[in-house]
Amino acid sequence: MNKIHYGGDYNPEQWPEEIWPEDMALFEEAHIDTLTVGVFSWSMIQKDEETYDFSLMDKIMERLHKEGKKVCLATGTAAHPAWMARKYPEVTRTDFQGLKHKFGQRHNSCPNSPVYKGYSRLMAQKMAERYAGYDNIIAWHVNNEYGGSCYCENCEKAFRNWLHHKYGTIEKLNEAWNTMFWSHYFYDWDDIVVPNALSEHYGRENVTAFQGITLDYMRFNSDSLLNNFLSEKEELNKITPAIPVTTNFMGMYRPLDYFKWAKHLDFISWDNYPPDMKSEARMALTHDLMRGLKNGQPFWLMEQTPTTTACRDINPVKRPGVMRLWSYQAIAHGSDSVLFFQMRQSKGASEKYHGALINHAGRNDTRFFMEARQLGEELSLLGDQLTGSETSARVAMVFDWDSWWAVEISDGPSRHISYQQTMIHFYKALFALNIPVDVIGTDTELVQYDVVIAPLLHMVKDDYHKKAEQFTAKGGTFITTFLSGIVDENDNAILDDRPGLFKDLLGIRIDETDTLLPQDFNSICVESGELKGEYPCSMIFDVVKTLGAETIGTYGKDFYANTPAVTRNKFGGGEAWYIASYPDLDFLKKLFKQTASNYEIACKIESCEGVEITERKKGDEIFTFVLNHAEEEREVALPKTYHSLLDNQTYEAGMKLKVKARDVVILKG
Ligand code: GLA
Ligand code: ZN
Repeated sequence: MNKIHYGGDYNPEQWPEEIWPEDMALFEEAHIDTLTVGVFSWSMIQKDEETYDFSLMDKIMERLHKEGKKVCLATGTAAHPAWMARKYPEVTRTDFQGLKHKFGQRHNSCPNSPVYKGYSRLMAQKMAERYAGYDNIIAWHVNNEYGGSCYCENCEKAFRNWLHHKYGTIEKLNEAWNTMFWSHYFYDWDDIVVPNALSEHYGRENVTAFQGITLDYMRFNSDSLLNNFLSEKEELNKITPAIPVTTNFMGMYRPLDYFKWAKHLDFISWDNYPPDMKSEARMALTHDLMRGLKNGQPFWLMEQTPTTTACRDINPVKRPGVMRLWSYQAIAHGSDSVLFFQMRQSKGASEKYHGALINHAGRNDTRFFMEARQLGEELSLLGDQLTGSETSARVAMVFDWDSWWAVEISDGPSRHISYQQTMIHFYKALFALNIPVDVIGTDTELVQYDVVIAPLLHMVKDDYHKKAEQFTAKGGTFITTFLSGIVDENDNAILDDRPGLFKDLLGIRIDETDTLLPQDFNSICVESGELKGEYPCSMIFDVVKTLGAETIGTYGKDFYANTPAVTRNKFGGGEAWYIASYPDLDFLKKLFKQTASNYEIACKIESCEGVEITERKKGDEIFTFVLNHAEEEREVALPKTYHSLLDNQTYEAGMKLKVKARDVVILKG
């Protein structure tokens, strides 16, 4: 890689060819070098069952080759053609309510339809055969944002097969799902129906009478879509083995277990559309998760909007500097690309107001074009200095899709606890301290870490408790919370004191768990030490008895006032912490600061409110990104002398570096 890929989705099939030269000139001006093409090209290419017409796609590919552009080529299978839905109604999905859908929208193909599977595989094959000779294809982009779910008869049949394969015998399935409850004993695989609004669910996706079946359906659905990806990938690999294959993820997207998927992608790519302008911690967490999916391997930022989205009720524009700042944030956390959706604005349909590098008028003097041009210039000047660099973190946060699913489909103890919000909340404390974090799965080895934070690790699979015990015994600090350790892989309770499989490690016992509405608070009171203070806590309150652990904080009120709310257990050479209630950010910041300092982990540059500081390493070189997310200028004191990459200056040790609002400085040294 000679530089960070810069560009994005380009759909010239939507406008007259006379405009293409103008596109090319504007790309040149903005230093655009990478274009993702063909994402929704299925109906343009496959006219009926037998006829494939590549004429327009050929023109696009030839043109981009001639212009010296790198291409990320899509297989185009994310929206099936209308003729296919008319001829084979099985390709459209049946939704959670049981409604059979007609043709419309996109991302709407049944993953278990033999017709869809056959034709999408064939499409991948045809695309690969057609364009195998192009030397400028740098990646395959399979489908687009895989997601959603289907509850049709084909899916029901496939679900039964999946279960059969998983459990082998119906007895094992009955045991796993605890079907003696509510007369659910299954005598035959065909007794099993898909769990949706017509069966186990009371109208809402998260409310199910049988966690076991719902959980397995979520796993099955994730696997079904993964199989779609794999079958296309197989074709691509046969014909173009040297071209890496990816599909664009959606960050913290609940329906798909990306840790399971990641093993099959050559590199991770993802689309960053945060819900608001204050999402810097959430975006950082998501980048770290995307990097963690493949053990730290750099990923691609496949999509972001240059300015505004269109699909929301309101769609604020990115303020001046924000697009550049967020692009560098992605790079700072491990991205080797900055790609946009979209290059030129769609003429019609639902994305005609979605932001684009080039607007409907084709101007090069819009604010967003000029900002993109500036970034393009900078990325060209940076060249390959940052590409392929890595992050080294000694603190890890465990992210687990199974726990996410299990905790949120559980009846009790509280429907107010969101897995994602909890992860964001805990991450925010680390983010504020600028402590580098790897977001890891339960399969990831822990040897390289000193601190492992595992909020809401509800489900313990593959003896994770033993892994946590070994890690702690060797001197690590393990921090976990309420609702952790208490169910097995089938979401059945561990028949023991809570916190179940973590009870030895934590040295505590929990008999009761109280819950309140989010607006009602108790407090965590710490009498001495660095954590001294009273901190609001909310939503959930385990009543804890210590069995060897030390009480660090106690509840401020209610019948469990003065009983443990935070405990620490010495375990071998390390310690295991339990946080029994949902604490405020202040408490977490102090706890993590203290824990990190025990291992001499701290950001080398002292930061201030709103300034993110993070590093990427390449060989012996360390690149420090100073990202000012604040709306005012900020100052940071430099502990040593650095060379600044973007302005090519030397900044002396001891000086106060001024960073303008939403500006970025990349320091080397
Ligand atoms: C997603 C899709 C794109 C486009 C953008 C616009 O990320 O992958 O095709 O629809 O959203 O929001
Ligand atoms: Zn289906």
